[in-house]
Amino acid sequence: MEDLQRNQTTAQQAESLEDWEVNALRDHELHSSKYFRLLESRRKLPVSLRRQEFLDTYHNSQIILVSGETGSGKTTQIPQFILFDEWASGKKVACTQPRRLATTAVATRTAAELDVPLGEEVGYSVRFERKSSKLTRLKYMTDGLLLSEASKDRDFSAYSCVILDEAHERTLNTDLLMALLKMATSRRSCLKVVIMSATLNIEKIQSYFPGAATFEIPGKVHPVEIHYLSDSTPRYCYCAISVVQHIHQNMDEGDIMLFLPTSGDIEMVCSILRKKYKNLTVLPLYSALSRAKQQEIFDDSEYRKCIVATNVAETSITIDGIVYVVDSGLEIRPVYNPRLRMSSVLTCPISKASAKQRAGRAGRTQPGICFRLYTEETHNTCFIPSAPPGILEGELASQILLLKVMGFQSVGTFDFIDPPHPEVYLCGLQDLCAMGYIDDEGTITSKGRIAARLPVHPKWLNAFMEGQKNGCLREMIDLAAISSTQHPIFSRPPPARFAADIAHRRFACPLSDHMSQLNALHAYESAMKTDKRLSISQWCFDSFLNRRALGEVVRIRDQLLASLQQELAYTKEICGFEDAEYDAHIRKTLARSFFYQCALKHPHSHATIYKTVHEGHTAGIHPESVLSREKQEWIVYSEFVSSGIPYLQTVTAVDPAWLIDLDFFQDDSLPKTADGGFKQPLVKKSLDKARKKKDEEEDLISFEELELKATPLV
Ligand code: CDP
Ligand code: MG
Repeated sequence: MEDLQRNQTTAQQAESLEDWEVNALRDHELHSSKYFRLLESRRKLPVSLRRQEFLDTYHNSQIILVSGETGSGKTTQIPQFILFDEWASGKKVACTQPRRLATTAVATRTAAELDVPLGEEVGYSVRFERKSSKLTRLKYMTDGLLLSEASKDRDFSAYSCVILDEAHERTLNTDLLMALLKMATSRRSCLKVVIMSATLNIEKIQSYFPGAATFEIPGKVHPVEIHYLSDSTPRYCYCAISVVQHIHQNMDEGDIMLFLPTSGDIEMVCSILRKKYKNLTVLPLYSALSRAKQQEIFDDSEYRKCIVATNVAETSITIDGIVYVVDSGLEIRPVYNPRLRMSSVLTCPISKASAKQRAGRAGRTQPGICFRLYTEETHNTCFIPSAPPGILEGELASQILLLKVMGFQSVGTFDFIDPPHPEVYLCGLQDLCAMGYIDDEGTITSKGRIAARLPVHPKWLNAFMEGQKNGCLREMIDLAAISSTQHPIFSRPPPARFAADIAHRRFACPLSDHMSQLNALHAYESAMKTDKRLSISQWCFDSFLNRRALGEVVRIRDQLLASLQQELAYTKEICGFEDAEYDAHIRKTLARSFFYQCALKHPHSHATIYKTVHEGHTAGIHPESVLSREKQEWIVYSEFVSSGIPYLQTVTAVDPAWLIDLDFFQDDSLPKTADGGFKQPLVKKSLDKARKKKDEEEDLISFEELELKATPLV
């Protein structure tokens, strides 16, 4: 490796190092036989055949756009080509992915290809989980994580090259990184940037980097025959099962890939297929699965494989041997509505570009067949050409805050590929202002700086500060950790919903879903400590709790504690479980920190209907909430979800007396109609009532006074 010079390596040099029996990266170790097996297949990948051309382009340019069909070797090979070339720089090479699942999967694969233990020369880093060390020279990471590194170091100075992978997905974080890297390259001439994407939607990226070199990997793609349904069906799961059945019984060898929107659908379909066929290897693939289960999809199998996946398998993960694709045409997508300030996860039709990608998975090694579980007309008329970039769909508050921390004062004029909608941008600013993270001029406050450094959503800083005042900081940290896991801790598998609801009752707190979540977490932690007889997975299974999610909560919580110890002078909790006011302290803290997410019950409705105070939107309480049948006047909610019917989810009952001193609830600040009246007279009335009650309570004569004034009985 010592002979390699930055910007001058040749494919021949690198390949002869790879062919050597000693591992050039660790010169005391011999290569394993598995290494040579992998090397042989790597050399056949389309990108390997053009290694020298790639290096020529790389040497001559600072920014390179690489495009190629999925499976051509971009994610696994290009970072290695670059690693050899950059070895002499002594700095790291970063390669970002939009998804955690893909990040860990490709890091594992690349470490195996280089024959090094994962976490040493090749590592990964995703939020709350890191496998890297001082030795790490190639680091796969999520785009979100590199973005938070960038907030501390705008020059990316730890890296000699940053590779942004899957750029065609245009996630909010990747878009921001593109902008930041564009600026960083003009300051640091030795920083290289490689932007990789599948062969779709690349024109936009090309026009954003006018001087960049382009490198296309010619892909071998085989023809894929497309079949549509003649009538559309809402029962896509059952339809998918019968198509898989048909393929398995009647068609030639070749593995099957089935795309479904949700993990619930996937588990249901997998269990039916497993029961039906002993000679079919049925494998689910979605982000909540354990790492070991995710890895199984790459293992060889005696039987035909049927992989049932969400859209993670669309571009970022390539599995060889797929000949048949069954496409439901659906995916779940988070959609943010700035007027509702609501982020909801909706099952939506995919785009034409995604449909094409999915079909393409069938033609990687030989001609394939794709069954689309929708009509040709639906495809042509209902599917949008390609998914809009994330920046046009997401909530921006935390990203705006990050840019402010980095010193970009007017984020409105920031050079985005696609500037966000002004309304979304304004909402983000208003929210930051309400949280006290920026002032009226839009300048970041010292509180805002701390909030931006938290590894959870910045809104939680207010809850931590309020929690510290009320002696329940610890509980707020737990709740922040719970809200940051990707998956709910309560599990409700569709076939056992009723049993799950009964099991969950023992954690239920009648006035608060947040408290119920805390109860479940605390029960889990004490089961971990004491219940040696019963295995913890059995305990979680019986309690219908998601063990992986709970494990993640504990990990996130511990990291949060560590980072808060630096930021806040963290003190031990004052109130404990035995405190009679324990519940009330926590509910009050939630109310006062998320006051902009309060809602008031509609008085005349039979069903429980609430109206949000901030925006005046109407919604029910989610049927899974402990408050769904209660008649609490005021609540604070964590999510506003909508899948047809709008619901408030994860809610807690609130006493308006806790809110009346906040600026937000003073007459001046309450939303007004055009003629100056109160937009929500009920809110005003209820607040006035609470104020009056409080005044009366304060006027109450104390017991001692009462005695003094009492006339002695004669
Ligand atoms: O990024 P791109 O889609 O161009 O390809 P890649 O992810 O680098 O995959 C190249 C090849 O590596 C695939 O065709 C798979 O055969 C193999 N691979 C694998 O076997 N296991 C992984 N975890 C990743 C890739
Ligand atoms: Mg890739």
